[in-house]
Amino acid sequence: MTTPSGKKRIFVLHGPNLNLLGLREPEHYGHDTLEAINQRLCARANAEGITLEVCQSNAESDLIAAIHGLFQHPADFVIINPAAFTHTSIALRDALAAVKVPFIEVHLSNVYARESFRHHSYFSDLAVGVISGLGAAGYEYALDFAIQRLKQR
Ligand code: DQA
Repeated sequence: MTTPSGKKRIFVLHGPNLNLLGLREPEHYGHDTLEAINQRLCARANAEGITLEVCQSNAESDLIAAIHGLFQHPADFVIINPAAFTHTSIALRDALAAVKVPFIEVHLSNVYARESFRHHSYFSDLAVGVISGLGAAGYEYALDFAIQRLKQR
């Protein structure tokens, strides 16, 4: 699964309220803005000759539509922080199951050290792996893993 140019493609999805990173509860989510995180991810992927595309939405239906878009415009790997939808969205889970693209679930905060309603994820059992509590670096570790995985293919 590659782009028409022959490049591998990684799709990064950010769920609700992550557009507020930098402003939002820095004690949980740190000081980086989403734009800064996305720029670092794009730079790292570009350096490896990999196309990286990013989508953030506060609407479940937009996130589902973005995942459905992978049928028409396939990706080799997905990195997703479903944010609050982690704990609520069977629909988003089903969309990822339908497209069958391997994915890593990322959380900036350690969801297991927080309220009990954050301990359950509708995604983790489908994920290749889960990174939680490592802040913005978690996205970069997920990307490094995805790059290594794509190089092995
Ligand atoms: C989050 C953790 C979720 O519980 C929360 O609803 C978020 C962000 C994280 O990145 O730590 O919005 O996914």
